[in-house]
Order: sequence, then C-alpha cells, then structure tokens
Amino acid sequence: MNVEDAINKRRSVRKFKDKEISADEVMDLLDAARKAPSSGNLQSWKFILVKNQDSKNQVADACFQQNWISSAPLIIVVVALMEDVKRHYGVRGEMLYSVQNCALAVENLLLRATDLGLSATFVSAFEEGMIKRLLKIPDHTRPQAIIPIGFSDEVHDTKLLESLESMCYFEQYGGRVEDFDEAFYQWSGMAKKQVDKLLRKVKKGSVALKDRINEKVNKKD
Ligand SMILES: Cc1cc2nc3c(=O)[nH]c(=O)nc-3n(C[C@H](O)[C@H](O)[C@H](O)COP(=O)(O)O)c2cc1C
Repeated sequence: MNVEDAINKRRSVRKFKDKEISADEVMDLLDAARKAPSSGNLQSWKFILVKNQDSKNQVADACFQQNWISSAPLIIVVVALMEDVKRHYGVRGEMLYSVQNCALAVENLLLRATDLGLSATFVSAFEEGMIKRLLKIPDHTRPQAIIPIGFSDEVHDTKLLESLESMCYFEQYGGRVEDFDEAFYQWSGMAKKQVDKLLRKVKKGSVALKDRINEKVNKKD
C-alpha cells in the first residue's frame, strides 16, 4: 500500500474481530514507530506491549471505562522519556518535543497498521496515575498514548473534513481571501508560469510569422 492510500484508509476503530495479531506484525508496528523523526534523534519513547486480558481490562478501566479497549488483541502504551529531552533542550524539550516525538511515533505505527490490514486508535483520555501504577511506569516519564490494535469489525461513515480554506493562510496567520482557489493559484506561482508560457508561445508565434513574411517577400523579389 502506498503512503497516500494508507493516509486515506486509516481510521480509528473501536470494535475488533476476535483474531490475534501475529508476532511478525507486532514487530513491524514497533519497527515503524521507532523510525519516526524525533528531536535530535533522541528516540525518547518506550513501548509497553499489553496482551494479558486482565491487564487490558484494567487499562480500559483507567481510560475512564472505555471498555471497548479491552477487546483489542493488543494494546501498545507509548511512554515519553521527558528527562532525556529536557537534558538536551530544556523546558521546551520537556514540555513540547517529548510529546511531539511520541505523537510522530504513534502516527507511524497507525499508518503501518493500516498497511498491514490492522486498525488502531490513538487514545489519550486516561487517568494517568492509574496507568502509571498499573504498568509500573517510572517517575519522570509520562504515558502519552494508549493504542488498542486489532482487526476492524466496524464499518465507517465517510469522514467529515473541514475545508482547506478554513485552515490555510498565505505567508502569515489570518486574513480572508474572496476566492481560495484563485488565491492559491496566484500564491503557488502557477498563474505567473501560465502567463510566461503564453508569452513564450506568442513570441515564438511572432518569430515564425516574421519568418513566413520574409520568406514571401524574398520570393517576390
Ligand atoms: C490526541 C488524541 C486523543 C484521542 N483520544 C481518544 C480517546 O480517548 N478515545 C477514543 O475513542 N478516541 C480517541 N482519539 C481518536 C479520535 O477520536 C479520532 O482520531 C478522531 O475522531 C478522527 O477519527 P479518525 O481517527 O477515524 O480519522 C484520540 C485522538 C487523538 C489524536
């Protein structure tokens, strides 16, 4: 599956078939996650693999009773190592980069899951203290995402997307344009390219015309 297809196909799934994920597939998911970009290539994450049913039930409970989570054959919990990032990049690293690094690892994992015919959901609504106690996650690290993964048993509606017009600006934040397509066309330089192409054609045409006139005049002589 190419990247565009994986992006278009990926959806959050909350109902799973009763089917195990193979060890190879789990390894492929982890391999994709660890290849995500990270600040200074710190790879400031840990992945906890959870398949024990009792643990999955408790994880679901700690996710404010999102009970569907426990029906996934596998849960991967992504933990941020903020201290590592703080050491290199100070408070900004601790507060921002460490979160961004994990989010990127999760997105890689979600796309690879789609590619493998699996489905997964990014879950962040959980009681952090409960998850830390349950999975023995140490101080100075934070669980960032809980990802139930499995084979989808769900049919999705078409996803509603906000228009690009509502989320894109040109060169600086804010400002309204009358016609987004036209503004994009102008901004992208396509308009200039088209005009230049037209001018080149006209120029070429006028040279050819000049040559033809000269040819005729020369014949008369
Ligand atoms: C940071 C974050 C937190 C989320 N937390 C939850 C959650 O706790 N429970 C849940 O069912 N879905 C959660 N989701 C999934 C979103 O609801 C879902 O991505 C969104 O509705 C768009 O649907 P799609 O993933 O199918 O495109 C979360 C997604 C993100 C990015």
